[in-house]
Amino acid sequence: MTNAVIECIVSRSAAKYYDPAATLSDEQIRELVRIGTTAPTSFHIQNWRFIAVRTPEAKARLSPIAWSQPPIIEAAVTFIICGQLADSSVIPQRLAPLVEAGVMPASMVPDWEIPARDLYLQHPQRQRDEAVRTATFGASAMIYAARSLGLGSTPMIGFDAEAVAREFGLAENEVPVMLLSIGAERPGNWAQKPRRPLAEVLDLV
Ligand SMILES: Cc1cc2nc3c(=O)[nH]c(=O)nc-3n(C[C@H](O)[C@H](O)[C@H](O)COP(=O)(O)O)c2cc1C
Repeated sequence: MTNAVIECIVSRSAAKYYDPAATLSDEQIRELVRIGTTAPTSFHIQNWRFIAVRTPEAKARLSPIAWSQPPIIEAAVTFIICGQLADSSVIPQRLAPLVEAGVMPASMVPDWEIPARDLYLQHPQRQRDEAVRTATFGASAMIYAARSLGLGSTPMIGFDAEAVAREFGLAENEVPVMLLSIGAERPGNWAQKPRRPLAEVLDLV
């Protein structure tokens, strides 16, 4: 079973070494994030924000609070992928464009908002879980979009979350879920690593 999409997925690996001379235009960066925002989110809540760290000055602010990992300075851009704590009160506003476009009847909005309120309001852990899920789906779409464009990517948890939140002005309700570097690679990156056998990770029930 293969096609271009599957080939793109299965051939990806995390890059460490990037061509420091290769930049991405703001238009290309916007396009990567636009693609990322087509990922699914719970109740269409779209609880994410993307901070594109792409100037030498901004990279110099991020590097020391991200373990000085080489991609921060060398990759064209490193996104701080933020998830926002799930808050059902934003749902009417997030669904309004669907209602306007005639995709969803206005009468259905409470059918999404009320269960979301029950799910999240009194449950901070679930609010945070949803922030992490949302940001991860967005990042994932960007990783494969980058790969399809011949660009490398590196998801990174090696950073000081509190320092990143402070330095880049994250709001109280925002979690810096991961850093994601994207850019043209240079030679020297590891080949793809073997995976655990399917029999170890798949239960067919
Ligand atoms: C959530 C997450 C956090 C990661 N953090 C880092 C990191 O801080 N630094 C790094 O070099 N690689 C990081 N990686 C890359 C992993 O080490 C890499 O994906 C894994 O070894 C599998 O290799 P592959 O992506 O090349 O298949 C991270 C990956 C994920 C998914």
